[in-house]
Amino acid sequence: MEALSDRLESPPWPRRQFMKCFGWLRSQLPANFLLARMRKANSPLIQEFLRAPGGWRAMEIIYERKQPRNLVDWYALNGLPLSIEARNRRRLIKAAYENAVSQTPADRPLRILSLGSGPAVEIIEVVSECSRVVTVDAVDLDAEAISHGRDLVERAGLEGQVQFHELDVRDCLTQFSGEQFDLVSIVGLAEYLDDEELTELLTGLTDLIEPHAGQLLIHGYQDTCSSAVTMRRVFNLHMRQRSGRQLSRLLSQSGFDVTDQQNTPLGVYPLLTARPTAAEESHAAITPRETVPLQAGKQRDRVTLE
Ligand SMILES: C[S@@+](CC[C@H](N)C(=O)[O-])C[C@H]1O[C@@H](n2cnc3c(N)ncnc32)[C@H](O)[C@@H]1O
Repeated sequence: MEALSDRLESPPWPRRQFMKCFGWLRSQLPANFLLARMRKANSPLIQEFLRAPGGWRAMEIIYERKQPRNLVDWYALNGLPLSIEARNRRRLIKAAYENAVSQTPADRPLRILSLGSGPAVEIIEVVSECSRVVTVDAVDLDAEAISHGRDLVERAGLEGQVQFHELDVRDCLTQFSGEQFDLVSIVGLAEYLDDEELTELLTGLTDLIEPHAGQLLIHGYQDTCSSAVTMRRVFNLHMRQRSGRQLSRLLSQSGFDVTDQQNTPLGVYPLLTARPTAAEESHAAITPRETVPLQAGKQRDRVTLE
């Protein structure tokens, strides 16, 4: 069987240098010039990014990687570090789900909670392919993501196993209160939350994770190819940078011990696995405060360029 590392897209050194230089150059260009170019681009990915920056559909276009329409579309799909690394991240995450399925004792169903799941395509694939009983709760704010996910679940005949919940992730703390999951994943979401929001969510999650063998899967974001400036200036998408070490610190402040770290080949996404710190060591729980719903990619300070 092909090793996981062989399935990752790992551009050679000269191409990586080009990506870094190109990213830096792009970050120096005027935002209104870039935006005008992007509006004209015949690229489903770029158009989707303009429509809903940071949304699930753009991710699906990146994962599907259909035949590009032209050079610009080719570049958006195959040349952008964020597209390459999103696919790499997905491969690592899928392998982590498969691992969890194979490691959990077979005497009971494995329970997965996916936060900011989008349509949860990769989880549906894992559940369809495995012989174990796995139940999944997938949480997302986006009604279209949920409806698409439900269609996929129906087609795969997994109605009893995969449930979607149209919720803000922080409401899951009350929604699932008293329940315990073997695996909780936060993928494609943490980079849009500030430290306070993320700490609050993580602290609450320690109660929802099975205390002996339960795991949390989460990743940071490192701007290794100067993508964040363009995302902020052109799409108004604020991506918070967190290295593996910074995310580890945040996890330990929130009541988790990090047990494993992997990196995507370009270093954009450090992927961490963590377990709740044993109860006697854990920090006092932070009482959830009243907050307005978080929604990644929908910041209020959108820059108007016209
Ligand atoms: C970049 S997509 C990632 C989707 C999927 N996890 C993946 O890796 O492809 C981010 C998802 O998080 C959802 N989201 C953003 N903020 C959220 C919130 N506060 N509560 C629930 N879902 C949220 C969005 O609707 C979107 O589907």
